[in-house]
Amino acid sequence: MKIRVFESEHDAGLYAAALAERIVQDTEHPVLGLATGRTVLPFYEALVRLEHCGLDLSRCITINLDEYIGLEADHPQSYHRFMHEHLFHHVHIPESQIHIPNGTALNLDVECARYDEVLNRHPIDFQLLGIGVNGHVGFNEPNDLLQSKTHVVNLTPETITHNAKFFPDMDQVPKSAITMGVQAILQAKQIVLMAFGEEKADIVARAIHGEVRTDIPASILQLHRDVTIVLDEASARKL
Ligand code: GLP
Repeated sequence: MKIRVFESEHDAGLYAAALAERIVQDTEHPVLGLATGRTVLPFYEALVRLEHCGLDLSRCITINLDEYIGLEADHPQSYHRFMHEHLFHHVHIPESQIHIPNGTALNLDVECARYDEVLNRHPIDFQLLGIGVNGHVGFNEPNDLLQSKTHVVNLTPETITHNAKFFPDMDQVPKSAITMGVQAILQAKQIVLMAFGEEKADIVARAIHGEVRTDIPASILQLHRDVTIVLDEASARKL
């Protein structure tokens, strides 16, 4: 694993976006695995700026990690909305090349299988990840086992509580999500995980230097040959 620590989130975003830029320039049809969350915002800001400076994103295929179950695409907290607000509205990636799980599909098993077909057709070149305070990646939550394929997951009480601040009341906080499994993540050619702030310091240290354990899903990244961990000083404090 390569670990890079930056003075500012802005600089960290520039670095991560530069890694994506290299893949986009060197690949005919680059497949970008994308993540949501506050942490990855500096990455998207930098990527948008790179496009405005001439980087051609129009050949990219994007595949998002996850989506809440039950939120319509235009819900303010949906990951569809997040991605359009922070990336897709600002760059020229054709809608047909954008993939996000449909959390309102009538048959979620069929939706999971459809998503795995998308992943089979488009192996990921560059996978962006954040990390939950409990070590989840995408919504692969700590558990006795990790699922390899796209699946429906019951969010842990910790994740639900953490998300509650984004919703007007507890009843509206999604209790489940659809997420890519760990297989598609680990099959990505290159993985970049970003984490910022004091609250991530402990889990970052355990994920990078601790045992590989299913109750710390991000620790499985230790098994991958090309992972870059992009941190600020606060999140790197316990390394
Ligand atoms: C959610 C997403 C994860 C993300 C995590 C961290 O749980 N499903 O993909 O890594 O949030 O979010 P933040 O960057 O806001 O701390």
